[in-house]
Amino acid sequence: MKGIFLTIEGLDGAGKTTQLGLLRDWFWEKGYDPLFTREPGGTRLGDGVRELLLSREYTGLVPLTEAFLYAASRAQLVAEVIVPALKAGRPVVCDRFVDSSIAYQGYGRGLPRDFLEGINRRATGDLEPHLTLLLDLNPALRLRRLAQEGVPRDRLEVEGDAFYTRVREGYLSLARENPRRIKVISAQQSVQAVHGQIVQQVVELFRKRTPCPKRRF
Ligand code: TYD
Repeated sequence: MKGIFLTIEGLDGAGKTTQLGLLRDWFWEKGYDPLFTREPGGTRLGDGVRELLLSREYTGLVPLTEAFLYAASRAQLVAEVIVPALKAGRPVVCDRFVDSSIAYQGYGRGLPRDFLEGINRRATGDLEPHLTLLLDLNPALRLRRLAQEGVPRDRLEVEGDAFYTRVREGYLSLARENPRRIKVISAQQSVQAVHGQIVQQVVELFRKRTPCPKRRF
């Protein structure tokens, strides 16, 4: 596949949404035609699954159900959206991917890693991002940011600090295991500083790989 596949990861409240907006502008200014998508969701079916997962109505969801639902949404997104865009040579940027499942369902909820890797290998057909940007945030700051933004709390956001501390540890272990793919960026810096580091990583990746086709207009 010709396209470049990037993912962005981090705790809720790490500033992913703001950074994705800036990155989208950057791609456009450079003349690329990127596809931005997100998990869970990104397809009609995935948006339905997202509602099931994030609604606070379904409080009794067991970790296994959660893991399968995220994987189901992912399988649909990969087949319907990500692979066709990569085949067309477009850069694809996905807000969360398999690392979220390892961090949240694995380290957070305690499901076995090999089980999660197995279902996700099937869900993605072994597709791996070329680059993952991990916005690292101390869980205590996460709560402060979410309170400031007045963001409504979904089913996962009501989890306590201990859960998010485990999730963060999970992310950092994944980064240690995959230093070439996962780049850790401190989310405690200014928005512009984080953006600068993201761009630096993307430019470096483009340098290593054949740049993808630019827009024709
Ligand atoms: P979302 O509102 O998209 O949060 P954010 O803006 O922080 O990405 O909700 C996604 C939630 O789902 C978030 O709390 C992380 C969680 N999640 C998992 O637990 N496992 C997964 O595999 C994915 C993709 C997300």
